[in-house]
Amino acid sequence: MAAVVEAKNITKAFGGVKAVDDVTVSVEAGEIHAVVGENGAGKSTLMRILSGIEFPDSGQVMVEGKEIENSAKDSIDAGISLVHQELSLVPEMTVAENIYLGGFPTSAGFTKRKEMKKFAQETLDEIGVQVDIDERISRLSVALRQFVEIARAIARKPKVLILDEPTASLTPAETDYLLSMLERLAKQGLAIIYISHRIPEVFRLCHNVTILRDGKLVYVSEIKKTTPQEVINQMVGRELKLDLESRRDAKPGDVVLSAVGIKAPGVNDVDLEVRAGEIVGLGGLVGAGRTELIRAIIGADNKTAGNVHITVDGKRQQITSYMSAMRNGVAYVPEERRVDGLAMTMSVTDNVYLPNRKDLAASGVINPAKAAKVAKELADRVGLRPPEIKREAGQYSGGNQQKIVIAKWLHKRPSFVVLDEPTRGVDVGAKAEIHRLVKELADQGTAVLVVSSDLPELLELSDVIHVVRDGKIMGTLDGAKADEKQVMGLAAGEKLVEA
Ligand SMILES: Nc1ncnc2c1ncn2[C@@H]1O[C@H](COP(=O)(O)OP(=O)(O)OP(=O)(O)O)[C@@H](O)[C@H]1O
Ligand SMILES: [Mg+2]
Repeated sequence: MAAVVEAKNITKAFGGVKAVDDVTVSVEAGEIHAVVGENGAGKSTLMRILSGIEFPDSGQVMVEGKEIENSAKDSIDAGISLVHQELSLVPEMTVAENIYLGGFPTSAGFTKRKEMKKFAQETLDEIGVQVDIDERISRLSVALRQFVEIARAIARKPKVLILDEPTASLTPAETDYLLSMLERLAKQGLAIIYISHRIPEVFRLCHNVTILRDGKLVYVSEIKKTTPQEVINQMVGRELKLDLESRRDAKPGDVVLSAVGIKAPGVNDVDLEVRAGEIVGLGGLVGAGRTELIRAIIGADNKTAGNVHITVDGKRQQITSYMSAMRNGVAYVPEERRVDGLAMTMSVTDNVYLPNRKDLAASGVINPAKAAKVAKELADRVGLRPPEIKREAGQYSGGNQQKIVIAKWLHKRPSFVVLDEPTRGVDVGAKAEIHRLVKELADQGTAVLVVSSDLPELLELSDVIHVVRDGKIMGTLDGAKADEKQVMGLAAGEKLVEA
């Protein structure tokens, strides 16, 4: 069968770095084609070129045998539709408005509201997603936003649908739903390019896989003819033994964080303790109130009731604001790193230097050489790729941005670290690396609270797991003994049965 879309010998450099180096990929109607690779391998750059958002230095994009000009409009007209890695909806606009914009990017100003709503509703019905079309995007859960994003991408009835890590913020059930939806769309003749760091998903969904490493195409195979271990080895360019089950031998000390009677929007009277050297995990479904809970605890959002105390070196301090939390050695790695985790236009050095200023500069004078040295060490510890600390954070790939956020806190040896979905969008190798770092922090005596929707991760890291549902702790499990079924059962509302 003939290819619907072909990228031919695409090359694109940023400065001296070839982000995409002579890559050729083609996808047929009805085919689901995976593109995988480590963070920074060039996946998103290639997809932006296919969508006409980025211009290649050389190479061609063909749709049904015809070369398309490199502009976003031409790509859309030719039938290529991209669901971006980072959410790209307009938060102040409604669901209907966002979907309509996807379908008719140029005529939105002249639209009749009734017609627009009808179009949006039909598009949502087609993929079976239930959401109020008059709701503003900013009021939706991350998962619903992701589905609206997909609705917007298919609104124009594209021939090629590209999804750049669509399941990064979805729960297992939502992921199942999405994968079935994509299988259905492919059966109807859509060509799909699917980017994911979740190898099991790739093996369940895709027909073929292309692997990029350092911008180069290193491997193409039918899924049937390869194995997950082979795909991982090709991604990292060496044998990578994934020791996912390795648990620490935790020795929890005194209580560092104590939160009592916490109430806030979405949080319903929660008590929580975390001890020095202990990793406490918060499991549950996306939207269960975990992010709201941790933000209320550290004062990032207001709480309506409750008390939070941090005890460092025997001194017990009340936490009343985010500032007081920071002063008492609390570190926060947020879910939305683009919003509050990183300064995108600042260098890696400045980003990791900001929270560490006190340690680095005596008398408030910045010592650039020392800052650079510390930044370099931190970049090496988290495995930043490439380790160019003068580069702006915004120029790094998604997974590497997450490593920069974590690097910020490593140096500081915080008393209490809160991590919200710490490895979302992070490649397999880096994920193992981040797990090692989190365990290392705990072994150094830091109290760690981690929110994760990734069940294997939650089970591997946590000494204690609280499962949250509707803003309440539904049950508490021993991290060393719990299994996925128990966590999912509690998350879905089953009662805890004592063994
Ligand atoms: N605007 C830019 N300026 C400079 N360098 C860039 C820019 N965009 C991407 N790069 C670089 O190009 C390379 C490929 O990045 P890209 O975002 O395509 O990776 P990726 O495979 O999508 O990674 P991830 O899995 O982390 O999303 C990286 O080295 C990145 O730092
Ligand atoms: Mg990417």
